[in-house]
Amino acid sequence: MPGIRAKLLGFLLPLVFILVATVAAAVMRITDAAIQRDLLQRGVAISRIVAFSAGYSLLSGDRLALDSLAAETGKSSSDIEFVAVRDTGNIIVAHSRVEERGKTYDSPDRSSLLGSFLETRADEVSREGHSMFEFTTPVIFAGKRVGTASVALSQESLLLAQRGVERSVLITASIILGIALLGTLALASLITTPVKKLSAGVNELAGGQTFHPIPVRGRDELGDLTRNFNRMAETIIAQQDRLSGYAKDLEEAYVGMVRVIAASIDARDPYTLGHSTRVARISCQLGRRLGFSEEELEHLDKACLFHDVGKIRTPDDILLKKQSLTQHEYVEIRTHAADGAEILNMAPSLKRYVPVVRAHHEWYDGNGYPDGKRDSEIPVHAQIIALVDAFDAMTSTRPYRKGLSPAEAVEEILRFRGTQFSPMLTDALVEMVKEMPQQETAEWKGMAL
Ligand SMILES: [Fe+2]
Repeated sequence: MPGIRAKLLGFLLPLVFILVATVAAAVMRITDAAIQRDLLQRGVAISRIVAFSAGYSLLSGDRLALDSLAAETGKSSSDIEFVAVRDTGNIIVAHSRVEERGKTYDSPDRSSLLGSFLETRADEVSREGHSMFEFTTPVIFAGKRVGTASVALSQESLLLAQRGVERSVLITASIILGIALLGTLALASLITTPVKKLSAGVNELAGGQTFHPIPVRGRDELGDLTRNFNRMAETIIAQQDRLSGYAKDLEEAYVGMVRVIAASIDARDPYTLGHSTRVARISCQLGRRLGFSEEELEHLDKACLFHDVGKIRTPDDILLKKQSLTQHEYVEIRTHAADGAEILNMAPSLKRYVPVVRAHHEWYDGNGYPDGKRDSEIPVHAQIIALVDAFDAMTSTRPYRKGLSPAEAVEEILRFRGTQFSPMLTDALVEMVKEMPQQETAEWKGMAL
């Protein structure tokens, strides 16, 4: 799509070119005509002077005077081809070229009448392949025709003069075209620069980048447009800030609500109270050992807090059941992973936790739920939560069993290394538990300890 600059150039330049070419052609035509008219007038004048001067000498037979007249006139200008005086018998009695004297005057090879000026006739003639203008004036003396005077002027001088004019006109036209090109570019730039700045401003606004007010230059329509655009952009940015403030408040409220839900779920069962918080703490310690960045650890922390949020949909009689679950109850409680993902999916800022929460009961060997994912298909945060979730459950005391010590829990977890849990993560957890002082690992144990 051609820009404004190209369109202006495409429109204005041909227009200027046509205008300049038309003016140049007219100037050349007028000048050529003026040069030719000048040449004709000069030729007629010389021819008439020769005819006037030759009258008496021709009648009196003064050959010397006639020769002198022809020779002197022939030398008076470089573009005079010849000067000849002939008698009424058409015999050349005087000629600027001496060898022509006494010969019969030959008619030219080709002749076309240019015009008659009183008794003088002007023809464009060709002699021996050479084009020239020939001016013929009858020599009259005492009212009687006594001969004819002919003066020929070279066409070269006319062509040279015309070429000179053409060159000048072409140079002037080129300069005008060059100025027009520069003028058009300057005009295009005058229009396109503010438009480009406006376009860049729109892109900044659309791309959510920091908006820089566009400098307003001039009080013309473009200046008004720029001023109005800046005002509009400021209004949009203010509205955006207000909206993002509302959105942030809403998000925080939603996150807070999910935290409350997570804590409430833990609190529904006195034996799991604080479970999500402990899972978060241990998972982040493990993540730190694995070299996670602070941002990753923050995400892991939140995912741990949210991981069992789906249990809000699990009825108390299943969640708090002391006895073994029936097949149906077991199927129902397993839906909490997908339910949690669905709940988090409702808040845009929590969407990033959806895959982790959904996959926190997947097994390394693909025998977990809800999707049967395996190995690297399971997000690494979900693999960590699965491991630490089990560790915390083992170390928590339940009504029907006493919690295991961290060392015992580690032994138990090692039995599922490579099946339920990632071998690499299992090894990292085992190593971490072994390295931790006894007192610290005791803090990891469930609340009943
Ligand atoms: Fe769970």
